[in-house]
Amino acid sequence: MPNIPLRNGGPKARIAVIPGDGIGREVTPVAVQVIRAATAKRNRPLEFVEFDWGADKYLRENVSLPEGAVEMLRDEFDAILFGALGDPRVPSNQHAADILLGLRMKLDLYVNARPTELLHPRLTPLRDRTPADINLMVFRENTEGLYAGVGGFFKKGTLDEIALQEDVNSHKGVERIIRHAFDYARRGALCSGRSLDRSQGESSSPAASSSHRPLRLCMSDKSNALTFAHDLWQRVFKSVRAEYPDIDSRHLYIDTLAMELVRDPSQFDVIVTCNLFGDIISDLAAQLSGGLGLAPSANIHPGRTSLFEPVHGSAPNIAGKGIANPFGAVLASGMMLEFLGWHEESAVLKQSVKSALHENVTTPDLGGSKPTLEVADYLTNFVTKHS
Ligand code: NAD
Ligand code: IPM
Ligand code: MN
Repeated sequence: MPNIPLRNGGPKARIAVIPGDGIGREVTPVAVQVIRAATAKRNRPLEFVEFDWGADKYLRENVSLPEGAVEMLRDEFDAILFGALGDPRVPSNQHAADILLGLRMKLDLYVNARPTELLHPRLTPLRDRTPADINLMVFRENTEGLYAGVGGFFKKGTLDEIALQEDVNSHKGVERIIRHAFDYARRGALCSGRSLDRSQGESSSPAASSSHRPLRLCMSDKSNALTFAHDLWQRVFKSVRAEYPDIDSRHLYIDTLAMELVRDPSQFDVIVTCNLFGDIISDLAAQLSGGLGLAPSANIHPGRTSLFEPVHGSAPNIAGKGIANPFGAVLASGMMLEFLGWHEESAVLKQSVKSALHENVTTPDLGGSKPTLEVADYLTNFVTKHS
């Protein structure tokens, strides 16, 4: 299998599966089933290993991210397929901080790629918008900012309490995410495999863009108020953009970006922003194309073990009812297959979701009446038939 960029030249692509909590446990098995269907006919060498990390284990054993887990994932797996974490029995959300934010930081997955694509016109809440208007990528810085976990309490629990949460922005961290966004814009591949392929590393070769128009890029911050942290974003943006005169790039403050995304999403191809703003703006963008139920994401360090997950959380309000939408998890799996270099399989996964939307084989959040497992069967049959 010479085309598969396997880790260490090993015999199989190894996928760690972490279903997590709530609906993460309902949608992740669907994703695995659909991936198996897509890879079966071509006999792709793929191995899944499941881990039971999540709220149950945390409450039972006081273990969130087990010791040695990061090294094991880094050294023995090509990718991680992740469901969601969050459980009302763990109000501190400590296990999610340890596992999800822990993996993002400890595996140095500095690119959080969150695409929004309107796969069916009826799904957007915006009037008179078509799929041509809504097709963009949010690149969220994923290892620092307000998520760095730097801070503390002073006089906790008293009326004099002070709580600090530091916004940590390194020159290296800001530069690499902005540069990644510019490289992606130059390649001009919004959803094609070339954008995520781990074998490409950090290539910035303009040659790859031959058949695509360069995408427009928008860097968003709050430098008018955050005059230290986002002054750094401004300076790095200016110096990096000077290296990409071929890319139409601009800056918007984050509040204006939120407004513009709703007013006219067709202005945007690539958005790059900090960790917290990327978290928020990617939910807003997801809703433009139908909601959290079908929004995928990839947490990537190019060339290294990376993590793929739906954007949504554990949705305790619907967990256990069998109605969770599996599209986000399946589309995230599609991003994972792209990353592994399996572009045709990835495309079939996306086609299966499009077809289900076209036939209205959807869960209630998208206006359908099907339970998760019926949607899963539809996707699996489609993928089997079209692989
Ligand atoms: P959520 O994404 O879990 O749910 C928000 C709303 O969207 C809910 O009404 C939910 O029912 C709906 N929804 C989400 N995914 C859906 C799907 N696949 N199908 C149908 N409906 C879906 O966000 P929340 O309610 O703010 O958070 C719940 C828990 O999840 C919290 O503990 C939170 O911290 C956690 N969370 C985890 C992740 C993650 O693991 N990546 C992401 C977001 C939130
Ligand atoms: C996400 C989630 C997480 C985040 C939470 C669960 C910590 O909202 O993946 O978007 O804020 O990154
Ligand atoms: Mn979020």
